[in-house]
Amino acid sequence: MNEWMEGYTSDIEYPASYYRELDPNYLNFCAILAGVEPIATTEAFNYCELGCGQGLGVLVLAANYPHGEFYAVDYNPSHIAQVRAIAKEAKLDNVYFFEKSFQEMLDEPSFLPEIDFMVFHGIYTWVNDLNRNNLIELCKRNVRAGGLVYNSYNAKSGWLAGEPIQKLIWGLAKEYQGNSLKKMEKVVATLDGLKNIKQGYFKEYANSIKKRLDKMKTANKNYIVHEYLHEDWKAFYFPEVCEAMEKAKLNYLCLANPAEAFSEDLYPKELTQQLEMIEDLSNRELIKDLTFNTNFRKDIYTRGRRRGWGKEEKAAWLLKQEWILIKRTEISVFEFNLSTGKAKGNELVYRPIINALQSAILSTEQLLELININISSITQALILLYSTGVIGIYKKNESSSKAVNLNKMIVKNAFNDSGFKHIVLPNANTAISFDLVGLTFLNGFYQGYEKSKDLVDYVHKALTARKLYILKDGKQLEAEAMRSQLYQIEIEWRKNTLPVLQETGALAES
Ligand SMILES: C[S@@+](CC[C@H](N)C(=O)[O-])C[C@H]1O[C@@H](n2cnc3c(N)ncnc32)[C@H](O)[C@@H]1O
Repeated sequence: MNEWMEGYTSDIEYPASYYRELDPNYLNFCAILAGVEPIATTEAFNYCELGCGQGLGVLVLAANYPHGEFYAVDYNPSHIAQVRAIAKEAKLDNVYFFEKSFQEMLDEPSFLPEIDFMVFHGIYTWVNDLNRNNLIELCKRNVRAGGLVYNSYNAKSGWLAGEPIQKLIWGLAKEYQGNSLKKMEKVVATLDGLKNIKQGYFKEYANSIKKRLDKMKTANKNYIVHEYLHEDWKAFYFPEVCEAMEKAKLNYLCLANPAEAFSEDLYPKELTQQLEMIEDLSNRELIKDLTFNTNFRKDIYTRGRRRGWGKEEKAAWLLKQEWILIKRTEISVFEFNLSTGKAKGNELVYRPIINALQSAILSTEQLLELININISSITQALILLYSTGVIGIYKKNESSSKAVNLNKMIVKNAFNDSGFKHIVLPNANTAISFDLVGLTFLNGFYQGYEKSKDLVDYVHKALTARKLYILKDGKQLEAEAMRSQLYQIEIEWRKNTLPVLQETGALAES
């Protein structure tokens, strides 16, 4: 390992992705539900991502928020070089990428301005103690009073069985030659053998070990290296992180998942009863983590306390919000997988909301007028549907041209190995992921192939020219079979995807 890597394995790249938990208005939504005033995003604000990886997330945000200035830092030059080129080509002039380590940032006192949103996702567990401290020092130095900070990390409660595996992976990897991908392959083979030991830890945690191994074999290989293969990897209990964050005057606000944070009615009743008797926030969070075997925490903090929003302000805000249906495929059962367990939505509440949003963008107030259901049931349903990405909050974006430019870049590069597959929905302040066929349909559409036949021909040609074929029931489709399958996909795409792209301003400049 080179010295500049500081114990974090960086010989291969981290896969690109967009995480909506890092989105300013998503963080604001959580803050509002937690009873504090949001940070205005329709006027100037500063945002910084520490350890931005491939930087796709920040690109999406810069395209979605014309009033924000976005600073993104990562010490891996391979990450920064590509994303800079895309930002330039997409003409995004409100995002700045820096190839710097956290220590180098601290060494330059005037490096960052005051920051309103500071986020670090997938960093705290994986770096060494010095850099964990550097993250907190950067918050201390740069986060504006009242700013929001997001930190995610592996939670010890869910890693009790996984921690020894990580230690083994790191130890075994040192025995093997080659780059991290090669090492990991050999480590997985060794672990496969170790799981046959039917004693002690291997017996006690056999199921959990098998699940982890299965995931190591099927998930993105680069991701698996970045998850496990670090010298200083550490899972944490919530109170430990909360105490460390307090050094930067950061107070814990809530989880960055509105459904999990604010649906206490989903908790088992024994938990609710016990929590009623416990005042200390750290103890309460730890008990919840132990109850749900939480393995990954996404936490929001505020620098000092923001102005509080009472019930009335919250309700007034909620009534005004307009909702857009993002996932338009038929939902047969309203069941959601949350880390707190499966949440079942009442058909009599959820179905009318979805039906109403199928035909129009509606505010909460309008939904209440249309559907005869009380406000608290509608609110709970909206929170769950929003948290799980079924619906989004509609806000007309004044300059969707940035998003359209970026989308065009993403579809144009769909066949190279950038791994960027998210399409920006500017009027919904979010992005959704597409597969290669979906990206190619969109590329054709941008190029003016609007009629079904032209579009299918375009996609067919683009795929077959690269020797890419569609699989059906595990079999590769060729020639006419592939073309007729593309017609089927196109019908579905026109019905469920195109309207979302149109209504959210992802297609044409406003
Ligand atoms: C697990 S990845 C997460 C990337 C991104 N936040 C995401 O979730 O897609 C961790 C990132 O932190 C960066 N990193 C690790 N140590 C760093 C340091 N000391 N200074 C700056 N970046 C660092 C790595 O290059 C890597 O891109």
